[in-house]
Amino acid sequence: MASEPDIETAAADLRLRLARQLEEDGRLRSPQWRAAVEAVPRHVFVPRFYRQSDAPGVTTWEPVTPETVDQDEWLRLVYTDETWMTQFDRHDIDWTDPKPISNAAPTSSSTLPSLVVRMLEDLDVHDGMNVLEIGTGTGYSTALLCHRLDSGRVTSIETDEGVARRAREALAAAGYSPYLLVGDGRVGHPDGAPYDRLIATCGFRNIPPSWLEQVRPGGVILTTLRGWMRSLGLVKLIAAGDSASGWFSEDDPSFMIARQQDAPESLGMVPGPADGTKRKAAYGPETFTDSGPAFMAQLAAPDARFFSMAVDGSPLSTFVLDSVTDSFAVLTAADSGWEVRQGGPRRLWDVIESAIATWEEHGAPSTAAFGVTVSRDGQVVWLGNPSGPQWRLPS
Ligand SMILES: C[S@@+](CC[C@H](N)C(=O)[O-])C[C@H]1O[C@@H](n2cnc3c(N)ncnc32)[C@H](O)[C@@H]1O
Repeated sequence: MASEPDIETAAADLRLRLARQLEEDGRLRSPQWRAAVEAVPRHVFVPRFYRQSDAPGVTTWEPVTPETVDQDEWLRLVYTDETWMTQFDRHDIDWTDPKPISNAAPTSSSTLPSLVVRMLEDLDVHDGMNVLEIGTGTGYSTALLCHRLDSGRVTSIETDEGVARRAREALAAAGYSPYLLVGDGRVGHPDGAPYDRLIATCGFRNIPPSWLEQVRPGGVILTTLRGWMRSLGLVKLIAAGDSASGWFSEDDPSFMIARQQDAPESLGMVPGPADGTKRKAAYGPETFTDSGPAFMAQLAAPDARFFSMAVDGSPLSTFVLDSVTDSFAVLTAADSGWEVRQGGPRRLWDVIESAIATWEEHGAPSTAAFGVTVSRDGQVVWLGNPSGPQWRLPS
């Protein structure tokens, strides 16, 4: 096993390589953030983690520590541009004897560095600014912020006590001392306001009103919005007192949903084979896998979820269920194309098809053509401009 100084030398070298790669990929664009990536020891923040196994079948995660792989391989992996999982199903991992994990949902991680630095670059920070971060996680992104701005300018909120404790220890070990809180990031931290910038590294279904109160007018809110079916992507909003507006980015990066906004456990009532009103469908289940239509479906049916299942030996059907309004749509293959049965107060497939048709009429644009306005009247996603076609975010 290599000695402590050897590890530090090797890690410093790997950081230089990572920074060079992120710069070549266009993610790192400024010398200040490059200096931060070169300085912050990611191995202090992810000393042990899980990676997805290549084995076919059910998704399985395998532990990575200096003992489970060897030390050089562990360090090399730490500094690759990957997201490493550090918690599943909200349970802390027993690292005395780590086992592979299956059938579990990741609930904390160290996000891949290219996404972290791309967001930090987009945040457009300047010396002397105060930043509020939501979703401390391992503390790696918090440390980058501390390196760039000084610890006294950084407040970070983590909802999970154990995760927050480990981040606090790692930050201290790396020499950083930001203001760390355990709590729900939707509440923010009014005592530290006003903030010049707010960055969230978990996804939200809407913009929490307290963020508008705590980010100064002209300040930036950078967060991913997401629903129960998929991520909508990254939005950069300019705060303006009790309102804010801005645009989605070109791609649609995804973060785990904020814990308090996770989908309810129950899917609601699953309709029987004769329930609902039948009609021919203009689109089939590919709606949920093609990125443009899937984005529109998430906007149009914000409380819905979908799954495919064969009932009583019949061919596979795709169920779209909205447990909030108790509405459903069921897609089944028909002679030519697809057929849908709908029921409940909300005609889910009607609103999804109408949203996709609107998107197609506008030339099937990428997410960069969409924006968000948050005001006292509610929160809407619009297409093209704030007076264009609109879809409400759930309140
Ligand atoms: C993707 S991880 C954060 C990655 C982190 N920034 C890093 O670089 O390591 C998302 C974190 O958000 C936390 N989280 C979820 N909901 C939250 C909430 N409402 N407020 C604050 N943190 C939350 C999760 O516990 C998780 O640790």
